[in-house]
Amino acid sequence: MTAVSLGSLLYEGKAKRVFQTSTADVVAVEFKDDATAFNALKKAQLEGKGTLNCQISALLFEHLERQGVPTHYLGLIEPNWMAVRPVRVIPLEVVIRNRAAGSLCKQMPIAAGTLIDPPLLDLYYKDDAFGDPLLTDARLDRLQLVTAEQRQQLETLAHQVNLSLKELFASIDLDLVDFKIELGFTADGSLVVADEISPDTCRLWDQRTTDPTARILDKDRFRQDLGQVVESYGEVHKRVQGGCPQPRIYG
Ligand code: TMP
Ligand code: ASP
Repeated sequence: MTAVSLGSLLYEGKAKRVFQTSTADVVAVEFKDDATAFNALKKAQLEGKGTLNCQISALLFEHLERQGVPTHYLGLIEPNWMAVRPVRVIPLEVVIRNRAAGSLCKQMPIAAGTLIDPPLLDLYYKDDAFGDPLLTDARLDRLQLVTAEQRQQLETLAHQVNLSLKELFASIDLDLVDFKIELGFTADGSLVVADEISPDTCRLWDQRTTDPTARILDKDRFRQDLGQVVESYGEVHKRVQGGCPQPRIYG
């Protein structure tokens, strides 16, 4: 690693590791090849997934930045490593749904693929021990994770991310069905998009085919044992690369 020297491991999640670096206001994120689903009940190693998710996330974070959406991203370090600003991540999974899929179809009488306009924003409590439950307004108030003003800010930012990504993906024939983001506060108190944005965290359907299985280019291929997981992430990467400038190298 040339631009940064690694310090101690700060956090290890299911798909990433976060390390301190010799620079106080920079941390390094390693994207792992580990794939998990259903709260890690299902696990696999998918060679190349870490690099693809890191590269896709870098391109998408830079796209958001150009559109005025603040993120934690600083630049790439290695193919599967990026430099980011240290952030106090709010333990909320912010999900936006443009079409019905996944848990929504299991919990409501709505057919998969139904357009949702205006998009639906769902907040989940990010805690594996509780299985990341969907929150009600009353429970969110009770948890006291964010003030009413911060919640407003967070939802506005998530809708901006949706508009910006939906447009980019549409330009490369990908339908952004839904996605999850995580947000956090930097040392100076600003709210930024953190974590990753990749086929692990978005549902993306290929608009070049109507086949309901072939069109899936995201982690549902792994969740549903559809095969061709890394190949599909590779296709997403190729298209996003075609729609964005090269990501920058940190340092
Ligand atoms: P869901 O349909 O399972 O609620 O998922 C909604 C979106 O959130 C989908 O794009 C996948 C993403 N997601 C994550 O990134 N992490 C998770 O742990 C879950 C459950 C969903
Ligand atoms: N990310 C979650 C897990 O690792 C669930 C999912 O994405 O389906 O279990």
